[in-house]
Order: sequence, then structure tokens, then C-alpha cells
Amino acid sequence: MESAKKLVEVKVEGRDQIKLESLDQQNKVSFIGCFEFTQLVKSYRAKFGNDVYKWPVPSGSTHSEMVIREFVKKLKGTWDYPYKDEELCHCRHVSTKTVDQAIINGAHTHELASRWTGCSTACGTCKPDVEKIIKYRVG
Ligand code: FES
Repeated sequence: MESAKKLVEVKVEGRDQIKLESLDQQNKVSFIGCFEFTQLVKSYRAKFGNDVYKWPVPSGSTHSEMVIREFVKKLKGTWDYPYKDEELCHCRHVSTKTVDQAIINGAHTHELASRWTGCSTACGTCKPDVEKIIKYRVG
């Protein structure tokens, strides 16, 4: 019989990570990160149990809430990130991932995302996409 494997992972580079590995319907959840992040994961486990598929989608704009929100939405199949290309700012060659990580780390306005990553500092065509991502991430 063939094994059914599944991996759902969300991470902030050099910071927090939460991962679900499933093999033949056995789920293993692991996480590492800062104090705030690990406390939030532990509080979710305490409130909603070990079955991460039953966790509610968190609201809020802390980096921990954003990471867990992405994780839960991916588990539920409702993650619909608003920008699909790898590179977001073509003038400055700034990747979508770089901008996204900056947003998670606190760049919650277009001005900050631009200052931290260099995106949108030439033609400005990418500005609406940066704003869409900020809105999707932060609300
Ligand atoms: S595409 Fe980002 S500044 Fe031109």
C-alpha cells in the first residue's frame, strides 16, 4: 500500500515556523519561534486541542497571528494569496517573498514595505500589488 504524505509549512525566515507533517493520517505538528509565537501556538492547543484542522482562523496583525492564520487557512484550503508571481517589483528585482516577509515583520504600510525592501521605488507599477498583499495579510 502506498503511503499518503502531506506537508503544510509556514515560516518567517530566521524567526518562526509551524509545520504539519502527515503520514497515513498520522499528524505531527512542530513549531519553533520567539516567545510570543510559541505562546500563541500553545494557547491554541490549550483552547482548541491538538487537531490543528479544528483551529479557528486567527484575526489580528501580529506576526504570530499572521503566521498561524496562513497555516490554518492552508489546512482548510482557504489560503488565497493575492499575488502569484515570484518577483513582485520588476524594476528593483524584489521578490514577492521579500515583500511578504517584511509585511509579516511589521511593514504594514506601503511606505514601510517600500523603505524596507526597495520595492516601488522606480515606476511604481507594483504599488497596488504591494497594497493588496498588505491588505490580505494585515486586514
Ligand atoms: S515594478 Fe516596482 S517600481 Fe517598477
